[in-house]
Amino acid sequence: PNNIILRDLATPRFFGAAANTSWLYHDKNYTEVISKQFSIFTPENEMKWENIEPEPNSFDFGPADEIVSFAESINAKMRGHNFMWGNQLPPWVNTSLTATELDRALQNHITKVMDHYRGKLYAIDVVNEMISDNTPNETFKDNIWTQKFGEDAVPKALTYARAVDKTPKLYINDYGIEGINSKSDTMYNVVKGFLADGVPLDAVGFQCHFGLNQVPTDLQANLQRFADLGLDVAITELDINLGAAFPGNATALAQQAQNYWEVVNACVSTNRCVSVTVWGVSDDHSWIPLGNPLPWNDIKQPKPAFFAIADAF
Ligand code: XIL
Repeated sequence: PNNIILRDLATPRFFGAAANTSWLYHDKNYTEVISKQFSIFTPENEMKWENIEPEPNSFDFGPADEIVSFAESINAKMRGHNFMWGNQLPPWVNTSLTATELDRALQNHITKVMDHYRGKLYAIDVVNEMISDNTPNETFKDNIWTQKFGEDAVPKALTYARAVDKTPKLYINDYGIEGINSKSDTMYNVVKGFLADGVPLDAVGFQCHFGLNQVPTDLQANLQRFADLGLDVAITELDINLGAAFPGNATALAQQAQNYWEVVNACVSTNRCVSVTVWGVSDDHSWIPLGNPLPWNDIKQPKPAFFAIADAF
């Protein structure tokens, strides 16, 4: 295992992780793994609105800067995450602003963050989790953005982002769109409409938070239909939650490994799939409690999933 470097095996694609300043430099073994294995990072929380602009026009870039500098130091890329989401918003955004005020706040937020990171972001999840879970009855989720802007919300964010900087790849990112289903059909129609209308969009991110043995068999076909629209696609937040099989006997860990293989293989089989990012690194620091969903265990040893990823790349 000591000479298996996933970032090298992934080339020309990127292999990534959600990075978190709670452990970067503070947990030695974590830092060792992320220094060696990954070629792209997404800040797990540090660029979210509540953290980076907690008060109106008052920005705290410190924690996100730490991850960006770390990435630069090991010649890895960065994915920004995110600008428009219903969660992790500070109260001042989520309440009481008029539509005009919220519009100004959104444009200012996108402009200041993109200006600060000019030249440093390979991609940005401009839009996160905005497609409804109640498709086809409803297209977009009910949150502050759609309450104030209706169907204009998502195009607004993309348009503001492109106006600041043409270089980063602009993404719409979501969960539940990995297989061919009603939600991914809705996403497909939305992005197809954007392309027809000239709304700036470069790519779609597929989160891939799965339970054990829940990888859709049509994942590759689904990635392909989006790629065929002329968009990049990426696996942005992969983890495989063991659920009832926690903490995971040998059989469960082998199934988990097989599931990781399926996802990475779907990306590798899709020309325009540019990256696979896992949502965390080791089980002890995952956002999912009691799920052991990641390729490294609590003591940062590679699990069967690690070798399956290597095999698939
Ligand atoms: C999660 C983080 O991992 C947690 O630390 C935080 O408490 C909540 O958000 N979809 C996303 C990510 O787009 O931003 C979420 O990250 C996980 C689900």
